[in-house]
Amino acid sequence: MRLRFTDRMDRLGTEGAFEVLAHAKQLEAQGRDIIHLEIGEPDYATPQNVMDAAVKAMNGGATHYTPASGIMEVREATARYVNRQTGAACTAENIVMVPGSKNLVLFAILSLIEPGDEVIVPDPGYPAYHSLVEFLGGRAVPAPIRESNDFRLDVDELRSLVTQRTRLLVVNSPANPTGGVLTRGDCEAIAELAQERDLVVLSDEIYSRLIYEGEHVSLYSMPGMPERTILMNGLSKAWAMCGWRLGFGAMPKELAQRMDRLMINTSSCAAAFTQWAAIEAFESPKSDRAVEAMVAEFKQRRNAVADGLNSIPGITCHRPAGAFYVFPNITGTGQDEKTLANALLDEAGVAVLAGTAFGGYGKGYLRLSYVNSVTNLERAIDRIRDHVTAAVPR
Ligand SMILES: Cc1ncc(COP(=O)(O)O)c(C=O)c1O
Repeated sequence: MRLRFTDRMDRLGTEGAFEVLAHAKQLEAQGRDIIHLEIGEPDYATPQNVMDAAVKAMNGGATHYTPASGIMEVREATARYVNRQTGAACTAENIVMVPGSKNLVLFAILSLIEPGDEVIVPDPGYPAYHSLVEFLGGRAVPAPIRESNDFRLDVDELRSLVTQRTRLLVVNSPANPTGGVLTRGDCEAIAELAQERDLVVLSDEIYSRLIYEGEHVSLYSMPGMPERTILMNGLSKAWAMCGWRLGFGAMPKELAQRMDRLMINTSSCAAAFTQWAAIEAFESPKSDRAVEAMVAEFKQRRNAVADGLNSIPGITCHRPAGAFYVFPNITGTGQDEKTLANALLDEAGVAVLAGTAFGGYGKGYLRLSYVNSVTNLERAIDRIRDHVTAAVPR
């Protein structure tokens, strides 16, 4: 039988990281040594006390369905965590637990966007934003994120992109793929614009704990914003829990009720023992110490990778204040980002992504995830240097 697929499937994008990982695994299966700098996942194990809490919950019978938006005690603990982090005053009614924060992008668009409505998305940005908006018939409007502005959204430029059809603004700080972090002034200006133009903001703060200089400012903490903000966060990055699949959103109650309905119709609920473990992640000092130790190590790695890249002819690299990515400018190598990324994997054994995997404004850049040991990062830098200098003699 020849299956007939919907037109919308043609509009659904992918994630370069998963594709490059699959190719890198093939090369490894052929015996090649590959240094993985493509996937956005901490190489750390989940803190032991959080694992113990999950096992205890499982042994205690937490192996059943839970309410669609999450176990009430877990939603309450999540509201306390959000309030501690942002100074907001949300309650369990504002919280929805989801199997991975990524679901909130889908749910926000399904709940708020009619065909033809515009959604402003960062470019370069996390690919799911653009992909899901277009998939569901909205129009994704790229907001350029420029190196010349320290990879921060330029709020004046953002203002010029808002039209009568703009309904939703997606903001991501600290950012994937650039590591850029918005300042308090940026957040205030974004909040002012959102209120002036009556926009809803999807604020993806999944990297909020991964900050190396300065502070993380949450849009959810700005006056007047909780009523128009979907705070998107989760356990994946800070507690090294990507495979557990647990995210959470804080949002206006009437939107949380719609998301509850979406959960009933899709996943039913996030895994029960995973949810119970979240309380341990949020509230145990042991978990805080584990996060802090990981962040301190990531700072060393960021310094090593940024300094290393800056020592390579033709490459310049900023030192981002957050997340665990660097986004080096490779225009001086004379190669385009796709050619260089492919050659680095196939010839030099270093898996990285082309900046354009995150949108057109990623042209001339690579993305490296520094979730690997300093030793491996230094080996990767040596390989990149050898490859680039062989291609472009000084
Ligand atoms: C910016 C951003 N948002 C969301 C996610 C998804 O996180 P989760 O594992 O909670 O679905 C990622 C994962 O890479 C990300 O980089």
